[in-house]
Amino acid sequence: MSAPHSPAGAGDQSADKPWGGRFEGPTNKFVEEFTASVQFDRRLYAHDIQGSIAHATMLAAAGVLGAEERDQIVAGLQQIRAEIDAGRFQWSVALEDVHMNVESVLTARIGEVGKKLHTARSRNDQVATDIRLWLRDEIDVLTGGLERLLTALIDLAEREADTVLPGFTHLQAAQPISFGHHLLAWFEMLMRDRERLADCRKRVDALPLGAGALAGTTFPIKREMTAELLGFSRICENSLDAVADRDFAIEFCSVGALMMVHFSRMAEELVLWSSQQFAFIELDDAFCTGSSMMPQKKNPDVPELVRGKSGRVIGHLIALLTLMKSQPLAYNKDNQEDKEPLFDTVDTLAGCLRAFGDLVPGITVKRARMREATRAGFTTATDFADYLVRLGVPFRDAHAVVGAAVRSAIAKGCELQDLPLAELQQLEPRITDAVFQALDIDAALAARDHRGGTAPARVRAACQAARARLGG
Ligand code: ARG
Repeated sequence: MSAPHSPAGAGDQSADKPWGGRFEGPTNKFVEEFTASVQFDRRLYAHDIQGSIAHATMLAAAGVLGAEERDQIVAGLQQIRAEIDAGRFQWSVALEDVHMNVESVLTARIGEVGKKLHTARSRNDQVATDIRLWLRDEIDVLTGGLERLLTALIDLAEREADTVLPGFTHLQAAQPISFGHHLLAWFEMLMRDRERLADCRKRVDALPLGAGALAGTTFPIKREMTAELLGFSRICENSLDAVADRDFAIEFCSVGALMMVHFSRMAEELVLWSSQQFAFIELDDAFCTGSSMMPQKKNPDVPELVRGKSGRVIGHLIALLTLMKSQPLAYNKDNQEDKEPLFDTVDTLAGCLRAFGDLVPGITVKRARMREATRAGFTTATDFADYLVRLGVPFRDAHAVVGAAVRSAIAKGCELQDLPLAELQQLEPRITDAVFQALDIDAALAARDHRGGTAPARVRAACQAARARLGG
């Protein structure tokens, strides 16, 4: 790459650039760097070359290129791809972007015929094609990472189906739940993300090539053939739209932002649960770091970072929405700004999926401590009220009776189950000692025995169903 910080002044002669024909003066050196994208869009090289090979193959089939010309171009492109793979390719900022870098070197290698590759094509339909090809592959990789995490969640949920912890509302102890059930709530959130990724992929999966700069081409191209060669299931139906919109990328970032919001909620709970105040879980040492000053510290850095990284992905979504807003059709250079947010969204999602996928199986569950916390928070008060309803007490009255019992327990500094039966009977004479069965945590858990409920048997069944859904 040529020097990035050279002072403003004359750059390479415009005439040396692939578009230099109508220019007399050279490009300002700073402008050359300011307008270049090769610093980051070189990441698309493999897909750029894949698209060019398909384009050349189609041009030959359409009679626009000779078979020999096609073969020279394809061989030249394959050689360039191997050089880039091996880190032996000389990128030039003067050549602006990945497309012109590859094309220039191609022509330098194979001669005049290299100049024919860009027939019936513009960088506008080329770059839109590259991004779609690249993003489609990345979605498949991310989906794999997501499925790995989903499997880890099912495994842990199955193991912890009988583990009880207080479920919270308003972060106040609410009702006993199975820890497996809680993990399966995460599973559901992420399953919807998987579905959204798959749905978004459908709209990524369309071929822009053939749109040219905006108005199509005068050559007898075969767009369906190019689409088939590149594995696109359809073609973009309007040439202007094909080069103008990046809604597929915006949609992907919106799926990504939502995934990060889900990850941030999981991260927050991992941070809370691993604190001394909750002490529900312990994270593996390999996923924590210490403090340079406080010797006792073991900090949950990985979940904290995942939580923090949600900010950048949400930011990228806003950046792309703002980038697209009010752009007149068709292509505008603004769209070059789509790449860095998109790349970083993919990288951040991949990193977070890797981090959680590795971290979840190593979580130590402190079952006794979770049970103790469940006993402490009057978490079976609702079960007490339900018991009274079964005795014929209207629910609102039952609610008031249990409220009074809770008040008394708070005053005495004990739990509901520690209150003497005689005292409870003063509140409601129909109460018998069967009430203590209703106040039992495991009984409360097992009683929520319906589809979507937290009874351990239901959680185990839900785990089995989850595995089938994931496989299907
Ligand atoms: N680097 C450009 C981009 O990323 C490629 C397309 C440029 N087209 C143009 N007409 N300047 O959008």
